[in-house]
Amino acid sequence: MIVSHFISETLRLLSVPLKEGKSIGFVPTMGALHEGHIALIRKAAEKNEVVVASIFVNPTQFNNPEDLKKYPRTLEEDCRMLEAAGCDLVFAPSVEEMYPALPSLQMNFGSLETILEGKFRPGHFNGVGIVVAKLFHIIKPAAAYFGQKDLQQVAVVKRLVKDLSFDLNLVVCETIREADGLAMSSRNRRLSETSRAKAPLIHTALLKGKDWLQQGLTTEETKEKIRGWFVSYPEFDLEYYEIADPDTLEAASHYQAGKTAIVIAAFLDGVRLIDNITF
Ligand code: PAJ
Repeated sequence: MIVSHFISETLRLLSVPLKEGKSIGFVPTMGALHEGHIALIRKAAEKNEVVVASIFVNPTQFNNPEDLKKYPRTLEEDCRMLEAAGCDLVFAPSVEEMYPALPSLQMNFGSLETILEGKFRPGHFNGVGIVVAKLFHIIKPAAAYFGQKDLQQVAVVKRLVKDLSFDLNLVVCETIREADGLAMSSRNRRLSETSRAKAPLIHTALLKGKDWLQQGLTTEETKEKIRGWFVSYPEFDLEYYEIADPDTLEAASHYQAGKTAIVIAAFLDGVRLIDNITF
């Protein structure tokens, strides 16, 4: 496995398989890798001749400077995991390499900007959109792998691919969870032992909502009941709990089997956790 820190070197290395007509499977990440990321690498390795991962903690998608500062950086361990999972090339640029100057381009994803993650993290999807577009230009993948864990990000990247005519196949992979249901996340390692023990309640809240909807409660009743349920767990600071359309993330007026998502964001122990289920 080769680790490249530079755009020009990455372009040169990838020009060989591209000329040979080999398919490149690409997994963009911010590092601090866990089994959720590795599942994406394995999927890419199954379906493509060349597997590329990127590791770049993208400053332009952090609206909270503390969060950016505290984001775990574990390049050596990440590379060990990537190599074992069948990755061929890691692109791990510095901030200066990716942004010699901060981009003046602004991306706006319409209603996705004003709801859920868009509402609580202003500017976040502009940062995601620009970095993903840059990475797609550099890597030129035939397929790119994203996790359902970040459902709204998937919707944003789908729009990006469509609106900018990227010629690639976007593959969405299921959320990988710990044995107790907590969605794997690089942020989980910032939780104290006590908070880590409580964190699976985020997943419990999603499953409770699903049960209540399937038993016939309305979306409003379900959300109200969940807000009541969280009162018993004051350690959670709930940002949103929404029942939505899984493609547009717009709030759903009623439950529709096979076309419903529940999305949640909550602070626990100063760590912002997000999760979702679709059913
Ligand atoms: P990061 O949070 O590192 O996630 C990289 C990819 O791994 C994303 O597609 C994310 O959805 C997926 N992922 C994270 N946790 C997962 C889990 N438990 N199960 C399955 N997949 C999971 O998302 C980003 O980085 C950045 O925004 C990025 C796209 C790299 C742009 O900077």
